[in-house]
Amino acid sequence: MTGGGAEIGAARRARLRGFYEAEAAAGTRDRLPDRRIDLRRRFTERVRADGRHRVLDLGAGPGLDVAGFAEDGLVAVGVDLAVGNGHLARSRGVTVVAADVAAVPVFDDVVDAAWSLSVLMHLDDAALVATLDELVRVTRSGGPVVLGLWPGGRDGEAWTDDETIPGERRYFERRPAPAMRRLLEDRFVVEDHERWDPPGYDVYWCRVPD
Ligand SMILES: C[S@@+](CC[C@H](N)C(=O)[O-])C[C@H]1O[C@@H](n2cnc3c(N)ncnc32)[C@H](O)[C@@H]1O
Repeated sequence: MTGGGAEIGAARRARLRGFYEAEAAAGTRDRLPDRRIDLRRRFTERVRADGRHRVLDLGAGPGLDVAGFAEDGLVAVGVDLAVGNGHLARSRGVTVVAADVAAVPVFDDVVDAAWSLSVLMHLDDAALVATLDELVRVTRSGGPVVLGLWPGGRDGEAWTDDETIPGERRYFERRPAPAMRRLLEDRFVVEDHERWDPPGYDVYWCRVPD
């Protein structure tokens, strides 16, 4: 990325953070759909079946999944851009650290498994690549990694939405599923790909190579 690109990326990230700080202040992200809860339970079963228990949630929001993992007996921690989400998570009795998913403040091989749902479409190409590399760096070899995001019809399809939180906007970049899958296969063993339709949501079941 050029210097100018980095500045645009920083401005976009600051605006995205503003959106999610406002969302955290409003407290509107307070429940998950049944299908998402079912996915989390299936992931938890896989983590346990592997004899693993430490899970990292990248882009954890207010810690709904982190709390769910903890209730199901896993040791879970989240990372999120919005400090307000860290406070909401703390009120749920779980930890979400304020940090960027593209630079996770933990040592290598520190977690057994990782999960990132509805986050990667907020990242530009450089941040997406850095985040996938971070997932590989922090997750022990063989660890399951589940990623969920909305796919797009063409490369570079990006927009901002300003409907959910009045006065705030957030960046979305939907990438075609084949392009996303190639990025994943460069780093992980992709074991399964679920397409939830409607609304057209992709869930990738990956594993960090041994
Ligand atoms: C659509 S919400 C999803 C939250 C949660 N994963 C869920 O599924 O309910 C996206 C979350 O990603 C976080 N996020 C976006 N970009 C991020 C970044 N670069 N670093 C850390 N968190 C980020 C936002 O703050 C927000 O909480």
